[in-house]
Amino acid sequence: MTQLERASFGSKLGVILATAGSAVGLGNVWRFPYMAGEYGGAAFIVIYVGCVLLFGIPCMVSEFIIGRHAASNTARAYRSLAGGTPWAAIGYFGVFTGLLITSYYAVVAGWCLQYIAASLLGQLHGSPEFFAEYFATFEKDPFKPVFWTVAIFLITHYVIIHGVRGGIEKASKLLMPALFVLLLIVVVSACLLPGAFEGVKFLFKPDFSKVGGDVFLGALGQSFYSLSIGMGCLCTYASYFSRQTNLMKSAVQIGVLDTSVAILAGLMIFPAAFSVGINPDSGPSLVFITLPNVFQQAFASLPVVGYVVGFAFYALLALAAITSLISLHEVTTAFIHEEMHTTRKRAAWTVTILCSVIGAVCSLSLGKLDFLKIGDRSLFDFFDFITGQVMLPVGGFFTCLFVGWYLPHKMVRDEFSNWGTLRGKLFHTYLFCIKFVCPICILMIFLHQFGWI
Ligand code: PFF
Repeated sequence: MTQLERASFGSKLGVILATAGSAVGLGNVWRFPYMAGEYGGAAFIVIYVGCVLLFGIPCMVSEFIIGRHAASNTARAYRSLAGGTPWAAIGYFGVFTGLLITSYYAVVAGWCLQYIAASLLGQLHGSPEFFAEYFATFEKDPFKPVFWTVAIFLITHYVIIHGVRGGIEKASKLLMPALFVLLLIVVVSACLLPGAFEGVKFLFKPDFSKVGGDVFLGALGQSFYSLSIGMGCLCTYASYFSRQTNLMKSAVQIGVLDTSVAILAGLMIFPAAFSVGINPDSGPSLVFITLPNVFQQAFASLPVVGYVVGFAFYALLALAAITSLISLHEVTTAFIHEEMHTTRKRAAWTVTILCSVIGAVCSLSLGKLDFLKIGDRSLFDFFDFITGQVMLPVGGFFTCLFVGWYLPHKMVRDEFSNWGTLRGKLFHTYLFCIKFVCPICILMIFLHQFGWI
């Protein structure tokens, strides 16, 4: 496919909403608020914003540069710029990482659909033990989670086969505003609860005594995952950007949107949890066990409002997961479509079927196929661990080195279009970050995760 025939986003808003859709996901809701609460409230938020600025945005811009310059799928983009050197491997590695994330991420997105259905049917009420039992039974069920995983893939597939403009961009323009509206509904309802202000205080009270090395590395890791850095999602989307798209400005806007959603997620979780005296945790247990109980108790005097808030919460979580999943699916679809010279439709079916099978096996590894373990982790947990903690940092690390130390500076600089007089200074700051700050930070996160520093 030549560059001229290549699909592209039709508007600036489309670029921002689609890419922010990739960034805004489960990570914003189930990890950021907990980290902010545990790691010193506003102190953590300030550090996190610093990480996004100094580290996340330069990494994002680097992937944008590669993608827009090469105007092709991630594997071909790195290959064409690497000129026969082993740097080309980063692109293939990214596609493979994407395939694994797509598979297990869809399982969790599917859980959200089950909880939407359950909240609509009014099934989410009972004792705290009931919620733990409900989730444990559902997660281990041999059919339901697999059914929802396939359903979520079919929704994603429907968007993908309609192409970049008619599918991804159109869906993002619809789903992202819907997500914001639902988010505001839940935030306002949570903040109006009696005693909610204690939760707001807990989230925002700056406590610098909690700030240590751990907090910095936690914030770095979170910014990395939350901005979808390190596996070619941003590179693939950037291959659909036009020459007019200002890469730096777009990265800043996406960073702002992603961080705002994360903070708003804190504003729905802490006020509600504090109003009923429950301590929020993180991960699947927060979303699928603690929060349904919190919503039930918080709105006990007005159960209808509780159902509406519960439904709105799972709907917004599903939307956030689906927009991230679309970007993940697109990485492999673009790869198969362009590298194997097949139609986009066939490529999309290949990804949908392959990932549904891997996703189903992942899901079953939590129940019927619980002998599928790697070390002491189920296959599902292993995929989560190996992609988030190992593969994304490795991909991000080599991308920084590739752009900072291998690509010609002139080529990199030329991608800094539309930035007026600031362009020169900004470019040098960016280059400094990408050559030194980002690779060193990623290396530190990596070593810290394994307890080596
Ligand atoms: N950024 C997404 C989240 O915060 O949930 C997760 C993610 C999506 C990571 C896409 C990586 C990716 F390529």
